[in-house]
Amino acid sequence: MDLYRLAQPLLGLIDPETAHHLTVRALALGLGPHQTMADDPILACHLWGRSFANPLGIAAGFDKQGEAMAALAALGFGFVEIGSVTPRPQPGNPKPRVFRLPEDAAVINRYGFNSDGHDAVKARLARYRAGAHHPTAPLGVNLGKNKESGDAAADYAAGAALFAPYADYLVVNVSSPNTPGLRALQGRAELSGLLERVRGALPESAPPLLLKIAPDLTEEDRRDIASVALDLRLDGLIVSNTTIERPAGLKSRHRAESGGLSGRPLAPLALAALGSMYRLTEGRIPLVGVGGIASGADAYQRIRAGASLIQLYTALVFEGPSLVGRIKGELAARLRADGFRSVADAVGAEHR
Ligand SMILES: Cc1cc2nc3c(=O)[nH]c(=O)nc-3n(C[C@H](O)[C@H](O)[C@H](O)COP(=O)(O)O)c2cc1C
Repeated sequence: MDLYRLAQPLLGLIDPETAHHLTVRALALGLGPHQTMADDPILACHLWGRSFANPLGIAAGFDKQGEAMAALAALGFGFVEIGSVTPRPQPGNPKPRVFRLPEDAAVINRYGFNSDGHDAVKARLARYRAGAHHPTAPLGVNLGKNKESGDAAADYAAGAALFAPYADYLVVNVSSPNTPGLRALQGRAELSGLLERVRGALPESAPPLLLKIAPDLTEEDRRDIASVALDLRLDGLIVSNTTIERPAGLKSRHRAESGGLSGRPLAPLALAALGSMYRLTEGRIPLVGVGGIASGADAYQRIRAGASLIQLYTALVFEGPSLVGRIKGELAARLRADGFRSVADAVGAEHR
């Protein structure tokens, strides 16, 4: 029985934060759907010495506290990113702080890093890693900073050191619009200082280190980030977080809420930022494309523009978990139709 099909109309009626919470709880209890068929082999990816059965991941912010990792992999995601996690537990912003924009297939959120904190999430990860899980999917841990912290680099360095033994990759998230001053860490000098401290805190055999950036940067900002990323040999860039822009044409009554906008209206911005980062990094750094992906066509376009992996979040809110299988099926068909033998073959094809 597709429990989600029954629950979806009801979830759409209750407030979005409660719906989010209930969905994560249901998944954590094992009530989510399980993909029964193996992924099409054309979707297999190899990156950072890890194997991905498919390139579609669940983006950060859905499972912020690391409660539903096994269920998200079982649902068919090729990898799972949890977080953002802050060092100390913190409540985030006052409610309401999440808004659905159904007419726009979008969400605005200003959660502000509500987090159980490092220790609680680490305990869950340790339990998860001690168990056997099928299918297995690489697991990313997305790091944030406490709102009141005066030393951002110390927060990220602590997270990197703590989670390195449990993560298949780590993400320094300096692009959430809901923590004051956070995005200023994307500036050249700030960023290289920050990333060097994080690198310095990592143990010898550390997982890959990625940086997640905003879609709202200028070309000059992006050039600076690309040069820092190349200089420091960063392992990857996630492009992008939510936008503080409000593109013309938004219809929903919630369009003027403050926070980060995700979903369909973000897609053109995130796609343009991705293509730009691919050019600026000369295809030498793996990119994760995220922002408004809602179909196999979107996924394929993002890969051709330079993404080695892709993620989504908002489309899942509106379409439910059957979307995951649909996107993968469409993507495999498009790759074959254009004569590609793998996802890797198509990465950046548009720039050649
Ligand atoms: C409710 C919500 C919470 C989010 N929380 C985080 C977060 O904690 N850390 C982060 O890096 N990104 C967070 N994001 C951003 C997503 O990971 C993603 O970058 C963005 O939503 C664009 O993808 P989408 O259009 O498919 O949703 C959040 C997004 C939403 C909608």
